[in-house]
Amino acid sequence: MSANPKKAAGERAAELVDDGMIVGLGTGSTAFYAIQKLGERVREGLPIRGVPTSEQSRIQAEREGIPLVDFAETIRIDLTIDGADEIDPAFNLIKGGGGALFREKLVATASTREIIVADESKLKERLGAFPLPVEVVPFGWQFVRLKLEALGCRATLRVRENRTFVTDNGNHVLDCAFGAIDDPEDLERRIGAICGVVESGLFVGLAHQIVIGKTDGTIEERYRPQPPSAATGVR
Ligand code: 5RP
Repeated sequence: MSANPKKAAGERAAELVDDGMIVGLGTGSTAFYAIQKLGERVREGLPIRGVPTSEQSRIQAEREGIPLVDFAETIRIDLTIDGADEIDPAFNLIKGGGGALFREKLVATASTREIIVADESKLKERLGAFPLPVEVVPFGWQFVRLKLEALGCRATLRVRENRTFVTDNGNHVLDCAFGAIDDPEDLERRIGAICGVVESGLFVGLAHQIVIGKTDGTIEERYRPQPPSAATGVR
């Protein structure tokens, strides 16, 4: 068994992919291992097609030889494997540490099954220690920031290597330090109602299964007790 918890989780999730599936390919250092393993399985003959959630994942998948399908050309994604920055006991998530939250959320919403891969440091009693990433359009982003701060956070424009971070969609990210989030569903709705917000990194009712790699070398799999449709009423 691998001593690397992220690798163990990613590789385990890749084993859950079956012949003929259309697979959402997540983003980040844990999803990386799932894509790597899927590449191995494809080279051994597994017939799948992938829908990447970022340019980073697209480049990796192409290098691995995983056939890709344009999201615009498919109406079904059977299973998505993605990482998370925080996971609460109800399987609510904070995502977007890598800035791919919008495509990740769209792919998750279209997926029959969403598997989250992570090491155990991502498990939290409540979300919010990790500042919530919110993707916003560059036009008027300062106004959007004020609106977000009115919801009770400190919002910081994401900068990487001394430059404003730009998402794959050409937008900015505001990292919103709310502290402990009591009601993720309500906060997601209120953020989504702000004009200029593209999407928040709050994922509510989207994850079906989590695969946790542990430092002792074991892997824990947990299943959401009820389908997301029962939690959100929309899926
Ligand atoms: C990218 C994400 C990632 O899935 C999240 O940041 C977790 O990354 P990692 O597996 O590297 O810890 O949401 O937008």
